[in-house]
Amino acid sequence: MKVGLTYDLRSDYLKDGYTLEETAEFDKEETIDGIENALKENGFETHRIGNARSLMKALLAGEKWDMVFNICEGMYGDSRESLVPSLLDAYRIPHVFSGAVTLGISLNKAFTKRVIRDAGVLTPDFYVVSQEDDIKNCKLSFPLFAKPVAEGTGKGIEGKSLIKNASELEETCLELLKSHHQPVLVEEYLPGREFTIGVVGNKENARVVGGMEIIYTQNAGNIYSYFNKENYKDLIKYIPIEENLLKECAGVTLKVWNVLDALDGGRVDLRMDRMGRINFLEINPLAGLNPVHSDLPILANLYGMPYSRLIGEIMDAAVTRIFGKK
Ligand SMILES: Nc1ncnc2c1ncn2[C@@H]1O[C@H](COP(=O)(O)OP(=O)(O)OP(=O)(O)O)[C@@H](O)[C@H]1O
Ligand SMILES: [Mg+2]
Repeated sequence: MKVGLTYDLRSDYLKDGYTLEETAEFDKEETIDGIENALKENGFETHRIGNARSLMKALLAGEKWDMVFNICEGMYGDSRESLVPSLLDAYRIPHVFSGAVTLGISLNKAFTKRVIRDAGVLTPDFYVVSQEDDIKNCKLSFPLFAKPVAEGTGKGIEGKSLIKNASELEETCLELLKSHHQPVLVEEYLPGREFTIGVVGNKENARVVGGMEIIYTQNAGNIYSYFNKENYKDLIKYIPIEENLLKECAGVTLKVWNVLDALDGGRVDLRMDRMGRINFLEINPLAGLNPVHSDLPILANLYGMPYSRLIGEIMDAAVTRIFGKK
């Protein structure tokens, strides 16, 4: 089976003058190599396509693949993650991972929270600051947490995200509006333990491959910020979640997964409130797939699932979903 690969290579964007933070979600060569090798180990023939622009050229030139393994996150606009799946849909080429609508909703954390809250999943109360004038109308009680409404990889998340009073709220929101050119999601702060949960599969066959607790070492504070993610080797410890708690996390995770119609594989981030209740933070339907540094491969490994098997199980789920069987 011929599998095309679509991805955003970080080095291409850095060459064009974008900064490390702007390109934080984009992939390194080693990630594409890792995915390609794992696909080959699982018996697939691979063909590198590249980013959305390369895909458009290839489609117009009449190229075809049996399916496309898509990890493109795009650069601009609120449908940046949906673009590649939409293009592939237009040419009726099946693709691995979630579809355009799920990616569009889940990129926006406020939209996602509205959907999963409607399904009865706990998530911190929130307020969206789209412009300076909105700040004074925020009625949530402190402490609060502020982050860009549509980013990932800890972008825009730092010490100042934790907000204790009205003047800090104003300062952080103004800074985020200016630096990230998008609304700010203000949420009630969750002070408790934090987990990230890995999922593989679809609908009733979706299953949790494992979950890890994010443990902050002495100098790390307790926010999984951009800095902590970049320096995780020194600042963060990852440990498997104890069995009973993992069951509880799995229940929340699979509910979120299926309510959002997420497909094939990804991650859900959870954190406890002050009562110890598990709350939904966000879903990552395009979870990082660097074989060494990304959370999903790290947590799969903690549960005895090497990278090649993780990719193999994601592909099994996609092939079964698309073609009915492997
Ligand atoms: N309401 C909150 N209360 C407490 N901590 C929070 C809250 N929201 C986010 N955080 C902290 O900030 C981190 C990053 O938030 P979130 O997962 O929403 O961002 P992200 O950048 O999209 O992450 P990812 O790298 O998983 O894509 C969380 O892992 C958590 O440590
Ligand atoms: Mg996260």
